Amino acid sequence: MTISVFGLGYVGAVTSGCLSQIGHQIIGVDVHEPKVRAFNEGRSPIVEPELDDMLQSACREGRLRATTDAAEAVAASSISIICVGTPSLPSGSLDLGYVTHVTQQIAAALRQQGKKHIVIFRSTMLPGSTRKMVGEQFADLLQSGSLQVFYCPEFLREGTAVADFREPSLAVVGTEYGNAPASDEVMSLFGGTPAVLRWEGAEMIKYSCNYFHALKVGFANEIGRLAKHLNEDALRVMDVVCQDTRLNISRYYMRPGTPFGGSCLPKDVSALRSFARQQGVNLPLLENTQATNDAHQQQFVQLIEKSGKRRIGFIGLAFKADTDDLRGSPLVAAAETLIGRGHTVSIYDPQINLSRLIGSNEQQIQTRMPHLAQLLKQDAKEVIEAAEVLVVSQKCVPVEVFRACVRADQIIIDVNGWAPLKSLPCRYEGLCW
Ligand SMILES: NC(=O)c1ccc[n+]([C@@H]2O[C@H](COP(=O)([O-])OP(=O)(O)OC[C@H]3O[C@@H](n4cnc5c(N)ncnc54)[C@H](O)[C@@H]3O)[C@@H](O)[C@H]2O)c1
Repeated sequence: MTISVFGLGYVGAVTSGCLSQIGHQIIGVDVHEPKVRAFNEGRSPIVEPELDDMLQSACREGRLRATTDAAEAVAASSISIICVGTPSLPSGSLDLGYVTHVTQQIAAALRQQGKKHIVIFRSTMLPGSTRKMVGEQFADLLQSGSLQVFYCPEFLREGTAVADFREPSLAVVGTEYGNAPASDEVMSLFGGTPAVLRWEGAEMIKYSCNYFHALKVGFANEIGRLAKHLNEDALRVMDVVCQDTRLNISRYYMRPGTPFGGSCLPKDVSALRSFARQQGVNLPLLENTQATNDAHQQQFVQLIEKSGKRRIGFIGLAFKADTDDLRGSPLVAAAETLIGRGHTVSIYDPQINLSRLIGSNEQQIQTRMPHLAQLLKQDAKEVIEAAEVLVVSQKCVPVEVFRACVRADQIIIDVNGWAPLKSLPCRYEGLCW
């Protein structure tokens, strides 16, 4: 396949080298003459292990050349991959100027040439950018069926970019509607087994990854600052933390849904924050961890209230499934707020038996929801039938029971992403989806 690669910076050079090595014919395109010259001489414009050798052999064997002429590259290729820079503007927002310019050049060339083509955006772009670019530059070409557009984010790390390309940590293909592409040309181009999402989902994944990486670095450094202050070896602490691949380095806790709660996380975050303050160690991430949870809780209650309905049914009240622990439960907090604002609340949670609640669990409920006994129902159907809005946080009622009881005028708020709820004959709203 002949592929044009627009932008011979870091990503473009690695993409060109690696794709040429697996047998593709590459035409590099850049506005910067010295980079084009270097490419044509088989020299890498960037320093990256293995890349010089790859470019040199590809050039020697006639599988690689470069040009400044975008139209000529489009004419000679069936796919254009856009890897130009997307720097920050002085305001901190994203500058899509280079991508826009390349997109205009490709669109003009395609209109003139009247050929079929595939465009793959690989530059990091904010959610909505591909759709906007397509709407502004490619709408007619897409409609006529002569053009297909994908967004395939890049996850390589500088220094190990070639190895990362060969064995990608993640493969993602964004399409207009989130359907898999008809042919597997694009699916197989960058290796791995790609997840297919809408353009916006694929764009969001790239930012989610980098946001998470930044957060992890910040977290490790906050632990580092506190540990050093205590004369403790932070490297050893974090090394042991990372040994737990069930709870710490895992999918666990990495799912949008209820705010964090329970008897440990809020208490321990709060204690560590007070401790760090006393010690005079500045830990902004820790300072704001409770605040972000509070914002999520507020959003959760707002979503329930937005319905304008007054009779609210809770399916699940404990802070998570299969426990009767009500301490720090975000569901208890939401129910309390709603009762305080004049809503009628009824609750079903099969794990909660008031006569069995003991210790701090009972104490908390006595102070925060002394009237819980009247709200708690033994039969899920009673709650489902009485409610205008059902807040479902646990899978403690079979979907068939919902199906038999719900009405079209009811709203289900799905707090933790239980997909079958979407198919019920009533309105559905997810907390984060
Ligand atoms: N560097 C990384 O490790 C990395 C990793 C993943 C994703 N990304 C993303 O990939 C994109 C490219 O990053 P980079 O580091 O390779 O950028 P870069 O700035 O090193 O290279 C961009 C290249 O695009 C060229 N260019 C600008 N306008 C052009 C045009 N009209 N036609 C052809 N070429 C043009 C520039 O001359 C430059 O050579 C960015 O969106 C970046 O955020 C980078």
